[in-house]
Amino acid sequence: TTTIRVSPAALGFTAVAHSLEDIAVVPAGYSVTVMTRLGDPLAAGVSAYANDGTDGNFAQRIGDHGDALHFFGLSAAGSRDDSSSARGLMVQNHENLSTQYLHPNGPTNVSTGPRPADEAKKEIEAHGVSVSEYLDGGDRTWSYVADSSFNRRITPMTPMTIRGPAAGSAMLVTAYSSTGDAGRGTINNCANGISGWATNLTCEENWAGYFRRDAADDALRTGSELRALARYGVTSRTGNYAWSTVASTDAMYQKWNATISGASAADDYRYEPNQYGWVVEIDPYNPASAPRKRTALGRCGHEGAFTRIAEGQPVGVYMGDDSRGEYLYKYVSNAAFDAADADASDRLAVGDKYLDNGTLYVARFNEDGTGEWLPLTFGQVPNLPATGTYPEYVFADQADILINTRLAADALGATPMDRPEWTAGNPVTGEIYLTLTNSNASKRPLNGTDAANPRHYGDPKLSGSTSYGNPNGHIIRLREDGDSTAATTFAWDIYLFGADATDYPADANVNVSGLTTSNDFSSPDGLYFSRDTNPAGEINPVLWIETDDGALTDRTNCMLLAALPGHVGDGGAKTLTNRDSNGATAQQATFAGAAATAASLRRFLVGPVQCEITGIDMTPDGRTLFVGIQHPGERGNAAAPTSHWPDSQGGSAAATVRPRSAIIAITKDDGGIIGL
Ligand code: FEO
Ligand code: CA
Ligand code: CA
Ligand code: CA
Repeated sequence: TTTIRVSPAALGFTAVAHSLEDIAVVPAGYSVTVMTRLGDPLAAGVSAYANDGTDGNFAQRIGDHGDALHFFGLSAAGSRDDSSSARGLMVQNHENLSTQYLHPNGPTNVSTGPRPADEAKKEIEAHGVSVSEYLDGGDRTWSYVADSSFNRRITPMTPMTIRGPAAGSAMLVTAYSSTGDAGRGTINNCANGISGWATNLTCEENWAGYFRRDAADDALRTGSELRALARYGVTSRTGNYAWSTVASTDAMYQKWNATISGASAADDYRYEPNQYGWVVEIDPYNPASAPRKRTALGRCGHEGAFTRIAEGQPVGVYMGDDSRGEYLYKYVSNAAFDAADADASDRLAVGDKYLDNGTLYVARFNEDGTGEWLPLTFGQVPNLPATGTYPEYVFADQADILINTRLAADALGATPMDRPEWTAGNPVTGEIYLTLTNSNASKRPLNGTDAANPRHYGDPKLSGSTSYGNPNGHIIRLREDGDSTAATTFAWDIYLFGADATDYPADANVNVSGLTTSNDFSSPDGLYFSRDTNPAGEINPVLWIETDDGALTDRTNCMLLAALPGHVGDGGAKTLTNRDSNGATAQQATFAGAAATAASLRRFLVGPVQCEITGIDMTPDGRTLFVGIQHPGERGNAAAPTSHWPDSQGGSAAATVRPRSAIIAITKDDGGIIGL
């Protein structure tokens, strides 16, 4: 192949307009191929998906709500080949469900139970991770291989090992593992990370809500346990989807009930919630390998795990914890990265070396554009003082700090952020970007802004508590001091603010970045730099931004934007005048170095009705872009689907056709590099 160097890179497509159509819209000169969809078979002999609620066997089908994805290259001979753009393994997370479309007439007794076993089994198995082989039949005519021996489903029941400093903790003992170093399954897998040795890091995000704890459980727990359970939100009396109400003793259903019931932790699932909330490493090339939960990276609502790899430096992993008011974390390995490990055949053993021994930090963003990484290390974390409700939380050891990462970060005084979602690193400069998808008036009130989360506005168009505060979100970025992964200080600025450019074409306190209708967006979530092996990325890689609802869905479906973002410190100091929802009061917020420009930002794609755009990767040659279309039609029901995508992508579909999450492959009709 010919190496094309572009310096400086320039966006080379015509921006896509707002769209409320039930199709994925791409720029002129580009085409869309629908790839793996909800329910597609992953093994020989599995029936084609009927998509009428009668299908079973999701342990051998593509799961629901496809989220983060990555293309791991395969050679023609079927072995790992990082440079391959013609054949690969697509690894995709399956975060959650649109249960209304999974059963003939929607779910039965979903709020309180009893749930039918067959419905619950289907819902459980539709979560997790899929591995499917993708093949270019020539000139980017992509299809997937339904009977590939590499295809795999990892579900909430797949055996896994627990590694790192918390492995073996008494707080990880369950009826499945009396030694606290094994478990089964992964759930609510959201964003991802890719190691430097060709493994996939899947992140467990909103796992807490799946668990049930009966009222009787409260009296059986210590005050400190209750404090931790409340901090993580393990407070539901039914659990999402009420799976534990199935009339069965099978662990598949009963492990979602964390109520203390037996004589010891090994007799029940009291600590089962502690087995979730981790980053999990998967070797996609070895379908028989048990994934490993990496406890050194902490336990939270893990969104993503961008991994920074540089020869001779430690491995860094940057991780958002996605809830309003949560924190940004960084893990730094003890070992410096040895390039020889990149090609090792026992990839999970390399993971043991770099991901089980290191230091976890949480970020504090100072008002002056500097920041600090605070170590979550036993002996350096103060105990949490008592509150009116709970006793003092005394950290017992490093395992306790890692299992209760949020409590430890609270104790250190980390900076609460406006919902930290994906992380991504500029492969050329090492700068780290973080989406802050949005916040509301209670978590980001007028008198509660700070330099890193500086915006609060009240918009008369919006209603509801989530619709003002910082409803459109922003993107922050940082540069480690000395460009060192191990740095404990950094510089930061705000790169971009979301806004509705129709309502606010010129209000510098709301549309801070000067967006227009060709690039306005709300609630940034997915974030990805074109690969550094992409020829187009050698000089100035394109940053891709995906959105998840927010305050713009009255004008357009969710979208993907392409950007040439510049660098930390481009913009100089900025001041906002904030106002409340009545416009009656105002407060100054000053923040560091915002690059308040939209000159190099263009909308590349708009998705179908009621979808989120999430999950993105390119082939190494930059000529195919894979994008995830998640939960189209999520607010419809079985009798009246509100989207018929992807069947509608061709222009029409019957009104009864149910929507399906799916991956699309986007190619340029002239075979060129995507976006340029
Ligand atoms: Fe699963 Fe925070 O998005
Ligand atoms: Ca997300
Ligand atoms: Ca989101
Ligand atoms: Ca979603």
